Amino acid sequence: MTVSLTNTGPTVVEVALGDRAYDIVIGRDQLASLGERIAALRPGVRTAIVTDRTVAKHWLAQTEASLAASGIASSRIIVDEGEGSKTYAGFQQVCEGLISAKIERNDLVIALGGGVVGDLAGFAAAAVRRGVDFVQVPTSLLAQVDSSVGGKTGINSPQGKNLIGAFHQPVLVIADTAILDTLSPRQFRAGYAEVAKYGLLGDAAFFAWLEAHHAEIFSGGAAREHAIATSCRAKAAIVARDERENGERALLNLGHTFGHALEAATGFSDRLFHGEGVSVGMVLAAQLSAQLGMIAADDATRIQRHLVDVGLPTRLQDIAGFAQEGLADADALMALMAQDKKVKRGRLTFILMRAIGQAVISNDVEPALVRDFLARKLQDARA
Ligand code: GLY
Repeated sequence: MTVSLTNTGPTVVEVALGDRAYDIVIGRDQLASLGERIAALRPGVRTAIVTDRTVAKHWLAQTEASLAASGIASSRIIVDEGEGSKTYAGFQQVCEGLISAKIERNDLVIALGGGVVGDLAGFAAAAVRRGVDFVQVPTSLLAQVDSSVGGKTGINSPQGKNLIGAFHQPVLVIADTAILDTLSPRQFRAGYAEVAKYGLLGDAAFFAWLEAHHAEIFSGGAAREHAIATSCRAKAAIVARDERENGERALLNLGHTFGHALEAATGFSDRLFHGEGVSVGMVLAAQLSAQLGMIAADDATRIQRHLVDVGLPTRLQDIAGFAQEGLADADALMALMAQDKKVKRGRLTFILMRAIGQAVISNDVEPALVRDFLARKLQDARA
């Protein structure tokens, strides 16, 4: 795959959803254009920025300045960082904050942050006054390539991740790729797992390009922008065809059935970031696909090798604290998977692979086979 990587202004990707279509603007220093873009989209609008403490320290002043320069009034709602805010209490804080700020139906909520802030602010926007429009300003790689696009919003239930929520599409996404310079290498790597996911699920040439260029994506510049734009284009196309996940959108869950169970088994803690769970989950999905005779064993090895090359965990024993704290047993992992939204009439949905770049949705994998597969993986990990 030959790609021209000359930097000429931002890349704009459209999510084609008819009268709810919106742009994803991708490029360095695009945060500065936020006020101007909102003023053009919604003249006279008022805004409320929802963000977390860490993002506020780095980016809130610049966000407010961009809005003020275009004459847009803004208020701010600052939540604690982390999954702890994606709760009923966090939801209440944001809804009450929006009501106190007198945000009306024609105003705009701005989600400035990573996946947690985007999901939480988007859900509050969907609910307050039966729906206020919102803008996503994703500040993590994971949010820029996945969670800020496509309209999934929500919070966690004590019984499972993202179990309460709504589809609520943003009206604009600004992915400022320079913001990613402030991420820790571990956070950046975790987001990278979702970039690799797009190659694995539908674009073998992109996966091969990533194998050759991943270091440049980490160091920034045109390769980073290309990787984010390619990911967003892939997601936008799938969302435009299947907004509500009645079919092919489920492909975006590659690695997530195993990944969510591992995240739950580690208490949604810093032991395993979401993208790290997806990395381990994608390798498990590839290995299960190989066991079922669907993908060549060499391809499963190639997938794992690439994720190892970028420094991501790919095996159960790579999960932080595995040796000291262990992990749930196979039955407990199966029970956690059964709680996932990817269960339909009691059957687990797995995203498997026929080849690199060719993922398929499977509803007929025998639970006993998956249980034995996980039991063997746990045994290997402890050996
Ligand atoms: N993150 C998966 C989706 O948006 O469908």
